[in-house]
Amino acid sequence: MWQTRITEMLGIEYPIIQGAYGGFGTSAIAGPVSEAGGLGIITAGTLRTPAKLREDIARVRAMTDKPIGVNLSPRSMPNADEIVETIIKEGIKVVETAGVSAEEYGKRLKEAGVVWIHKVATVKHAVSAEKQGADAVVIVGIEGAGHKSPIQVTTLINIPMAAKLIKIPIIAAGGIGDARGFMAALAMGAEAVYLGTVFMATKECPISDRYKQRMVDSSPFDPVLRARVFAPPGAEADEAVPEGDEAGTRISGFSLAVSAVDKVVTVQELIQDIITGAEAIRRRWALS
Ligand SMILES: Cc1cc2nc3c(=O)[nH]c(=O)nc-3n(C[C@H](O)[C@H](O)[C@H](O)COP(=O)(O)O)c2cc1C
Repeated sequence: MWQTRITEMLGIEYPIIQGAYGGFGTSAIAGPVSEAGGLGIITAGTLRTPAKLREDIARVRAMTDKPIGVNLSPRSMPNADEIVETIIKEGIKVVETAGVSAEEYGKRLKEAGVVWIHKVATVKHAVSAEKQGADAVVIVGIEGAGHKSPIQVTTLINIPMAAKLIKIPIIAAGGIGDARGFMAALAMGAEAVYLGTVFMATKECPISDRYKQRMVDSSPFDPVLRARVFAPPGAEADEAVPEGDEAGTRISGFSLAVSAVDKVVTVQELIQDIITGAEAIRRRWALS
């Protein structure tokens, strides 16, 4: 029912992908997401070394036999070459690159039969990624968390614009957190959604309960959150307002998608809420 080119390409049940997280993006969250029918992503930058990445891949394999992705941000990884070879050797079938142009890594991954997804903050860069041979692109709107571009616009602008300009499948990210956002993304031309913030407010996410409660209590009107999300061009969002939880994990901060966080749920509940809500919307549309 939710088949798209992305679910087919990745071998997953639902077109829902969990975002990468520097600092805590490990098997603890990736395993449950994949097991629940989405694509879980392990963030190589969190593990840092090939040995630690191998250990975490072994952990995730003990949690699920479904597909798993690895995120690689070459800009912050001096050992990116070694990490790429580790990913290939470990039999990972999906890699998401982010942060900078990753053409060389993409070529190497594709040569080895790995699906290469590149994450960008603008449609302009999505067009370049397609030219460079990416199999799919994630485009993150300004509502989202993470790397900011001076010319970034909203998800509502990005996805329809990209759908007109590129042929490879588009994955929508930034500000999405519930069934309505999911359906809107698909209607705009995306073939999957990519969720960072809302997967942080799940029981399985390895950050503190206090931080998750802070997310439940927050809203898009919080001035500190707004200053971070709408960080001025050139400012790294995570340097603008450093955060951390009491367990000492460095957390660069959630996005405006926190508007969808009412309570802390399990990964399975979050995915099922989105899918059940989306099915209800589809039924309403079919009747009208
Ligand atoms: C705390 C946090 C840390 C993140 N760290 C990374 C990272 O290391 N690498 C990366 O590619 N994206 C990172 N991101 C961005 C997410 O993968 C994703 O693109 C973004 O959260 C999507 O927007 P949303 O939060 O509105 O869903 C991070 C996001 C958050 C919230």
